[in-house]
Amino acid sequence: VNAQNKLVLNTDLGETQISRHIYGHFSEHLGRCIYGGLYVGEETKLVPHINGMRTDVVEALKKLDIPNLRWPGGCFADTYHWKDGIGPKEDRPTIVNSWWGNVTEDNSFGSHEFMELIKQLDTEPYISGNVGSGTVQEFSDWVQYMNFEGKSPMSDLRAQNGHPEPFKVKYWGVGNEAWGCGGHMTAEYYANVYRQYATYINTSWEKDSRVFKIASGASDDDYHWTEVLMRDIPHNMLDGVGVHHYSVIDWSNKGSATDFNEDQYFTTMTRAWDMERIVSGHEAIMDKYDPEKKVGMMVDEWGGWYDVEPGTNGGFLYQQNTMRDAVLAGMTLNIFNNHADRVKMANLAQVVNVLQAVILTDEERIILTPTYHVMEMYKVHQDATLIPMNLKTADYEHNGKKLPAISASASKDENGKVHVSLTNIDLNKEHEITIDLRGEDFKSVSGRILKSGKVQDHNTFDEPNKVKASVFNGAKLNKNSITLKVPAVSVVMLELE
Ligand code: AHR
Repeated sequence: VNAQNKLVLNTDLGETQISRHIYGHFSEHLGRCIYGGLYVGEETKLVPHINGMRTDVVEALKKLDIPNLRWPGGCFADTYHWKDGIGPKEDRPTIVNSWWGNVTEDNSFGSHEFMELIKQLDTEPYISGNVGSGTVQEFSDWVQYMNFEGKSPMSDLRAQNGHPEPFKVKYWGVGNEAWGCGGHMTAEYYANVYRQYATYINTSWEKDSRVFKIASGASDDDYHWTEVLMRDIPHNMLDGVGVHHYSVIDWSNKGSATDFNEDQYFTTMTRAWDMERIVSGHEAIMDKYDPEKKVGMMVDEWGGWYDVEPGTNGGFLYQQNTMRDAVLAGMTLNIFNNHADRVKMANLAQVVNVLQAVILTDEERIILTPTYHVMEMYKVHQDATLIPMNLKTADYEHNGKKLPAISASASKDENGKVHVSLTNIDLNKEHEITIDLRGEDFKSVSGRILKSGKVQDHNTFDEPNKVKASVFNGAKLNKNSITLKVPAVSVVMLELE
């Protein structure tokens, strides 16, 4: 037990709201994310569904209160021509999904199916439009098709396809990874392309729901990218700037998702902790050009990335999910919460069956991953007020290298309840921590915990509940101080009243 850990919470000094959109998700036409994972077709008898959307998956996601869902990519977005995905299904053309396994895409899941899913999930859509291989006209037509209330060629077409009312999609991404699969552009070139697209993504006809435009953001710590976008794009046409960061050990040797040693674990945690430096770096640049913090940072792809499960298609990015992923998620969400004055959205990659998924499916069966349980525990932070804090933590040391063992964030919800999330990434030690509560008195503390015997533990279709959250009674409240021991590789959520 290590007693060097201390957290001070100023429970009455919170000013910043933690946007619920930090808890967003991402669904790409990739592997079995859409097809098989979310959508099984309207005719199947294999699994219960409503209008083709898997009921089990929809119900599980609703329990997370997911605030938004990004679609249709990813790299796929810059190859996607939305008109291929509307109208009678038998007339929709098939295309080749060239980024992800060269499989045939029959376009049976398109804009109307996506909006049906959004309706069932009771969440907000975030659409990434095609810039890399599309046209300005095609993009602006899509916005008009989805959003225009009055009579126009695109709204007439929408009505003809069965939906006279506009869908009112607020969040639009102007391309994806423009520095890579979205066109291999330079920052300077993309900034101009963005200005052109943004000009014609017409919002002048909108009354109540202004379109929120998000620029394709930097990879990791490419600060030059953010600098150029913030400098060269007028801020009245820029609402958000993306950032993508994956926790990858080595792009040419990512390692197994379930069979890993401490070296690999430590490297994954190092990459995950890089998020703090990356967000702070982009934030400093954004602060320089936008001191009033009007433009949001949208970390619209993040998560752990490993080798695919043995025997599965290398282009489908299907990976298992262990306690390593749980603490990766806990730590990352703490980072986003603590930067809530600038980070306005984040999207875990990806929601079902791809990368750090919250749900895995196998035909008619599903499992909820350890990451699912973290998202479920952390949902109390959505739209709550961030509590300013100071954290002193011991290090997790491995081979002479160090990482902070404990990460934390805290918020106060609209009923005055305070939630404190604590993640201990130390593989070998539990850590005792003292929490000083300043500003208010509390009567009780309760808690939940996610932990398991081994860091490699995960849920399988044969043992779906090996890793799940349980009640945590280990926190003791004494006047204005709480003490608890956070077990090695665990995530704890405390509730104070
Ligand atoms: O999430 C998988 C891929 O990772 C996305 O398609 C792309 O944007 C990123 O490189």
